[in-house]
Amino acid sequence: MQAESDRRVAIVTGAGNGLGKAYAIALARRGVRVVVNDLGSEAEAVAEEIGRFGGEAFAARCSVTDEQAVPAMVADAIGRWGRIDVLINNAGILRSRGFARTELADFKALVDVNLIGAAVCSHAVWEQMRAQGHGRILMTTSEGALYPTPGAAGYAAAKLGLVGLMNSLSAEGAKLSAVSTNGTDLRL
Ligand SMILES: NC(=O)c1ccc[n+]([C@@H]2O[C@H](COP(=O)([O-])OP(=O)(O)OC[C@H]3O[C@@H](n4cnc5c(N)ncnc54)[C@H](O)[C@@H]3O)[C@@H](O)[C@H]2O)c1
Repeated sequence: MQAESDRRVAIVTGAGNGLGKAYAIALARRGVRVVVNDLGSEAEAVAEEIGRFGGEAFAARCSVTDEQAVPAMVADAIGRWGRIDVLINNAGILRSRGFARTELADFKALVDVNLIGAAVCSHAVWEQMRAQGHGRILMTTSEGALYPTPGAAGYAAAKLGLVGLMNSLSAEGAKLSAVSTNGTDLRL
């Protein structure tokens, strides 16, 4: 039987609806403790649903772009469960409109939530994962980034930016993990 301290912990952003909700429930059904992040009360609803089938979860209502609330969410999870094994950067928004009619504020909002939000959340778990010597961060990009469709410039820019973020963190994480196995701290 698995010890309580061995149970994995995952943060799923935008987990109040859609794919994020499905990830959160699927993880909880496998015994993973889940932080259900979303903007509003749907986060509590999903955490309660998980509780009803005997899973463990808590709701963390905040925007993934909030540089104070996100580290607080991570600290709360570590305080309760002592570890962060998985971060699924799932929260995203899509606004379809031709480029000429796109307000720059909307373009920035797309980049802010889809790309910067993933960076804020990844940054908040990075030190914990480094200290643990392991961790997994998943990015949610889109076919719209590689095979663009008209009317989604901000979305495509943000989602392709995520690929760059992912590749860079992957290289850095691999280096850190090589370092931790031979005991030398070569923190970048
Ligand atoms: N559904 C698809 O076909 C599809 C295809 C490609 C990529 N994606 C990507 O998958 C992810 C999930 O898609 P979905 O269809 O389940 O979307 P959805 O709209 O059903 O769910 C997204 C969730 O993210 C939350 N959210 C939005 N902004 C947030 C913020 N600032 N902070 C925290 N939460 C926030 C929303 O409240 C919502 O609950 C998105 O990143 C989306 O771009 C989806």
